[in-house]
Amino acid sequence: MNRTIIAVALASATFALAPAAHAAGDAVKGKAVFAQCAACHKADASGKSTIGPNLWKVVGRPAGTLAGFNYSAAMKGAKRSWTPANLDAYLTAPAKAVPGNKMAFAGVKDATARANVIAYLGTLK
Ligand code: HEC
Repeated sequence: MNRTIIAVALASATFALAPAAHAAGDAVKGKAVFAQCAACHKADASGKSTIGPNLWKVVGRPAGTLAGFNYSAAMKGAKRSWTPANLDAYLTAPAKAVPGNKMAFAGVKDATARANVIAYLGTLK
């Protein structure tokens, strides 16, 4: 048997599994991360928005579409749904992911903290 072929096959199998492992966050820890969002975002079934749009049921919602919130033109035109992957990109660097949007927040730099807060958002439904 050719060892190189086996090594290459193992390496690509590991690579293919990596994104799935990365996606699983801890919603309980994510609730604590959400404290830094709560200054601007309500996230309850009232649907009421404050400085930012209410984040109840935000996972899966098309960007810039919550009724009654005055979004920036940039967010209205963002043309994406808030999948976990799109939330991850936005929360990494809000100004880069949606240039011109008005969320005055630098982002969550730690990937685990981001995965956790996204898992928490997924429970708000
Ligand atoms: C300083 C206030 C502020 C903080 C802190 C903040 N946000 Fe925002 N957020 C906003 C504003 C304002 C918008 C609307 C942006 C626009 O219309 O351009 C927004 C938009 C969003 C959106 C898009 C929602 C939609 O309906 O399209 C998501 C998702 C979001 N924020 C998540 C978060 C999360 C998660 C955190 C914490 C990790 C956070 N935000 C922290 C103010 C804030």
